[in-house]
Amino acid sequence: MTTPKDETFNGLSAKEWTILGKNVWNDLSSPRQSHHLLHGATFPAALAERALSLYSKQGDIVFDPFAGIGTTIIAAAKLDRVGVGIELQEQFCTLASSLIDKEKTDLFSSKQSSRHEVICDDCRALDKYLYSNSVQLTLSAPPYPKVDIRPPKVQGPGRPRKNDLAEEMLERVPAHSLRQDDFGNFGYQMYLEELKLVFKKVLNVTREGGYSVWVVRDQRDTYNGAQYIPVHADIINLGVSAGWRHHDLIIWDQNDQRRLVLLGYPNVFYTNLNCSYLVVFRKPKDK
Ligand SMILES: C[S@@+](CC[C@H](N)C(=O)[O-])C[C@H]1O[C@@H](n2cnc3c(N)ncnc32)[C@H](O)[C@@H]1O
Repeated sequence: MTTPKDETFNGLSAKEWTILGKNVWNDLSSPRQSHHLLHGATFPAALAERALSLYSKQGDIVFDPFAGIGTTIIAAAKLDRVGVGIELQEQFCTLASSLIDKEKTDLFSSKQSSRHEVICDDCRALDKYLYSNSVQLTLSAPPYPKVDIRPPKVQGPGRPRKNDLAEEMLERVPAHSLRQDDFGNFGYQMYLEELKLVFKKVLNVTREGGYSVWVVRDQRDTYNGAQYIPVHADIINLGVSAGWRHHDLIIWDQNDQRRLVLLGYPNVFYTNLNCSYLVVFRKPKDK
């Protein structure tokens, strides 16, 4: 028995639903444009478009509290959802607004009336901008947490050794602002506590049965024995303790987009952390 497309909650047919059912995404290498390089930690447009297609339908409100240059909101404009983002850094808000405007001028005029914006603020103030029980989907990637405590830099001649794990891992961490309210500057415990506050507020603005999808990557504490920090598992636990139901886990395989580096050779073997996770939560009926 099949259900007509327009009667499914996300507008997908049974065939589309099945094809999109893979829990490892390894086909998301959408080309990076110059504006992606200006930010350094964006996710691909294809990832945002797929997540929006799975967990929302036309006309729904989609939210991104760590909006960066607006990849989620641009996908919302393209797929005819309402899109609201919050971003701390003014230069990213400005860039997001011009990219959104460009996307909207490329679209049919019928789609240009709905709201698509990135507000410049701290996302912990999100309840100022959204009504309770209004959002269908939150899609967001928070900054990488600061899990390492770096020793003072010793000046010396020469480049770091190529097999030095700490230096290799640091090369992959994108720069963030020096602001105290930037989540990228919080120690790990504070990061989780403040994120829990955001999760509670997002739960309140999400409608019953709505979704919240968090794109995160695990880390190594490179200055403390390279201990593995299972960020995605910590996010699952904090989401559940904030009142969400853990709904799904998708692996975003990035092996094709990242250069393999030699880690720990020849003494300790480490894998390259070449995947991210999409942690999917759902708002339970009684919240
Ligand atoms: C990983 S980036 C998100 C990139 C985004 N997904 C995109 O594709 O453009 C995380 C963003 O969170 C922002 N951020 C950090 N702390 C914030 C806060 N307190 N409130 C809002 N945004 C914040 C950073 O400036 C950064 O742009």
